[in-house]
This record gives sequence, C-alpha cells and structure tokens, in this order.
Amino acid sequence: MSLILAIESSCDDTSAAVIRDGEVLSNVTATQTIHEQYGGVVPEVASRKHQINIIPVVKAALDKAQINKTQLTAIAVTRGPGLLGSLIVGVSFAKSLALALSIPLIDVNHMKAHILAHFAEDPKPSFPFLCLTVSGGHTQIVKVTAPLEMQILGSTIDDAAGEAFDKSGKIMGLKYPAGPEMDKLAQNGNPIFQFAEPKVNGLNFSFSGLKTSILYFLKKQLKTNPNFIDENINDICASVQHQIVYILIKKLKQAASETGIREIAIAGGVSANSGLRKELAIAGKECGWNTYIPDFQYCTDNAGMIGVAAEFSYREKDFSDLNMVPQARLKME
Ligand code: KG4
Ligand code: ZN
Repeated sequence: MSLILAIESSCDDTSAAVIRDGEVLSNVTATQTIHEQYGGVVPEVASRKHQINIIPVVKAALDKAQINKTQLTAIAVTRGPGLLGSLIVGVSFAKSLALALSIPLIDVNHMKAHILAHFAEDPKPSFPFLCLTVSGGHTQIVKVTAPLEMQILGSTIDDAAGEAFDKSGKIMGLKYPAGPEMDKLAQNGNPIFQFAEPKVNGLNFSFSGLKTSILYFLKKQLKTNPNFIDENINDICASVQHQIVYILIKKLKQAASETGIREIAIAGGVSANSGLRKELAIAGKECGWNTYIPDFQYCTDNAGMIGVAAEFSYREKDFSDLNMVPQARLKME
C-alpha cells in the first residue's frame, strides 16, 4: 500500500495532495491572487507566499484525507521546471518531512505530471498516446509510450499558448492571468476578426507574432474609435481564442496523422479552455480519435497530479537522493 503526500510549488499555486495507491484522497490548492495587481507573477512575492501557505495547505490536505502524517509512506515534490525560489520552498519542505518521518522522497517533473494527471480518474488513455500540453510556460506535443517514457515531438519556439492568452488579455486591460477571463468573454462573442497565422515548420508552435498582430490591429481601430475595445471585447476575445485553438488543433491533427496514434489527450492550464475542449471533441469525431480531457481540478497546477505521477515511481522504487536540488529548467527527456 502506498500513501503519498504530494507538494506542488513551481509557480504561484501552493498545493498539497494525499494519494493512496494512485487514488487522490485530497487535493488542496491556495492560489496567490496578489500577482493580479502586477500583471504577472512576481517571483520574490511568490516564494514568500509559498512560505506562508505551505503548512496550512499540507494540514488541510491531510485533514481532508483523514490521514495522520505518521501513516505516510512517501513524500513527492515538484523538482522543476518552474521558478527557482518557488520550487525551493516545496523541495525544502518535502525533504525535511521525508527526513523527519524516515520515508522516501520522490521528485517529479511538473510537465510529466500534467500529462499523468490523466491517470487520476477514468477514462484513462491507453499507450501510446499523444498529449498536447498547454500551460503558461509550455506548449508541447508529447508522445507517451509508458508512464515514465515520453518524447517531445514539437514545442513552442517562443511564447506558450497560456502566455498568448495572458499577453493578449493584458493588451486589452484584462487582469492576470487573462486566460480564464478571455474564455468567459469569448463565450458571448463571435470570431469575426482575423489575425495573421504563424508559419512554423514541423510540429513546433509560435505565438509571439499573434500578440504583435493583435496589438497593431487594436492600435489601428482605437485611432478611429477610442471605445473599440470596450464595445467589442467579447468578439475580440472570441477571435483571439479561435486563432490560438485553431493553431493547437491543426498541429495536433498533423501529429496524429504522422504517428498514426488515435489516443489523443490534452493537459495543462489551457486545457481548461472551453473553446479548446469543444474543438478537440469535434476533431476527435472527424478523425476517429479517442479524446481525453482532465477534470478541471487536474488542468491547472495542483499537487494531485504530482502524487499520481509519483505513484508510478513509487512502484519502481525510484526514489530521490536527499541532496536533490530543484531545477528551474528541468528537461522532460
Ligand atoms: O498549468 P498552469 O496552471 O500553470 C503553468 O504551469 O503555467 O497554466 C496556467 C495558464 C495561464 O496562462 C492561464 O491563463 C491559462 O493557463 N488558463 C487558461 C484557462 N484557464 C487557465 N487559458 C485559457 N482558458 C482558460 N479557461
Ligand atoms: Zn503547470
């Protein structure tokens, strides 16, 4: 029997979860809203907030699961990628607790965990499957052949998809992170405005041109109508979202066709997007795919996915050295 306490602190969410034999018993997250006023995550502020949140969040996760810390069989923690100061808080806490309880420590790659979040609940994809991982920091198409065997087929050469939502939203005056708000506004609008489509070879992505294209478009419109953004916010959001989703689905179709894989999953914060969820379902029907979308609580950063990923390492007795250090740019392969 495994009973793992998982910790996630890679960016601006402090999260703890308890996982028994791969089943998530609790998944508690404290989101740091303080960054809204700065228009983005301030690393120093994020680490301070993690320090404040980590003990109450861990206590809440243990209480919710009705588990005493002495029953735990391992501690799992995000090693990277992420903000170094934020990662250090979670890693130091996890090491100390593992040492105090004399139980193993398991380090987890945050991006792999986003993908393995699919194993938190049914239906689970079968191997091999393709996963489009779309978050604030990453945009990747990954071929997953086994729980711990992954190969990146394509990734962004500049901004991530989440960043494209956040930066375009910022131009329109939306609060950080703009993705969820854009999604809501887009639901009341139509994609009537067109933006340039980036030309990128293979399965790679590019989103930085989109942000510039939106900026120029809005500047031009504001010259003749200073209220253009307020009057058209729903349609602008729907158009931006449509373009981002279109690019993501197009590359996903290309990857599926090149690999012949029909088990298709999406993961990461942007997989919470209603437009992406809808278009994935449509593409799935059109191309004969089985599609997998995690429950909302497993899309954005959460410790549940860290625990689910750690369970696979636990079974292999793949434990970490207590001298392990966090890595801001931890690679997947
Ligand atoms: O995976 P995540 O929680 O953190 C990172 O590892 O980056 O992803 C956060 C990103 C942000 O860019 C946020 O704007 C975006 O996910 N996001 C969304 C939605 N919910 C979160 N983007 C579009 N639509 C949403 N509903
Ligand atoms: Zn993430």
